[in-house]
Amino acid sequence: MTTDQRDFWNEVWSESVDAHPEPDQLLIEKTQNLKPGKALDIGCGVGGNVVWLASQGWNATGIDFSDAAIKHGRSLAAKMGVEAEFLLADAANDKIHGEYDLITMFYLHLPSDDRARMLAEASKSLAAGGTLLFVGHDESGATPESSEDRVARWTNPQEVAAEIQGLVIEEATVLDENTGGSHGSHMQGGHLHNRATEHDEHQHQAGHTRTTLVRAVKQ
Ligand SMILES: C[S@@+](CC[C@H](N)C(=O)[O-])C[C@H]1O[C@@H](n2cnc3c(N)ncnc32)[C@H](O)[C@@H]1O
Repeated sequence: MTTDQRDFWNEVWSESVDAHPEPDQLLIEKTQNLKPGKALDIGCGVGGNVVWLASQGWNATGIDFSDAAIKHGRSLAAKMGVEAEFLLADAANDKIHGEYDLITMFYLHLPSDDRARMLAEASKSLAAGGTLLFVGHDESGATPESSEDRVARWTNPQEVAAEIQGLVIEEATVLDENTGGSHGSHMQGGHLHNRATEHDEHQHQAGHTRTTLVRAVKQ
């Protein structure tokens, strides 16, 4: 399963990427009051969020299991003139090394067992006062066009919050992507070919319209 997914993402990210991806609007919103420290973005894709965090003064690292994503992330950081680290890692199986003030995961969509393991590992790897930010497609946004396999990986805030141990849940909510002002930049196609392809897939085949957002803090 993991290998299939990795092949899928390598294929997606190997297509031409000729513009740089925008950071997710929710990332900007939810980190605006945080003091920059060490940040880890799990399933970072081509690195838009990591590079933006680095540009805001975070010591930012992105991990992804797609070599093509990591390659794009590194060249985006170089192009933007920021220091950011991109590492190849499998979020479902690998340990997180180090301690972070911010750990984010945007649209990673792991199978539920892997997700629970990853959330436990991320919670352990937060420094005191650190923030965990989970963002993904919400199962309530599924439509008849959404494939069963994809919807099985979508979430609701209650289940994600229940999988987060040892942190204080500050926010666990569903955002409407059309009206909730959620990940606007993510949904604007055109700035990145691959991402636009992925959006088309999400919007027209998978048909998602809603987002699970969970924000938790380690005391
Ligand atoms: C929908 S993309 C989201 C990328 C980025 N977070 C964003 O919001 O633009 C999902 C990313 O998760 C990565 N991914 C999926 N499963 C993974 C795993 N087990 N370990 C590491 N990365 C994974 C994929 O390679 C892909 O880059």
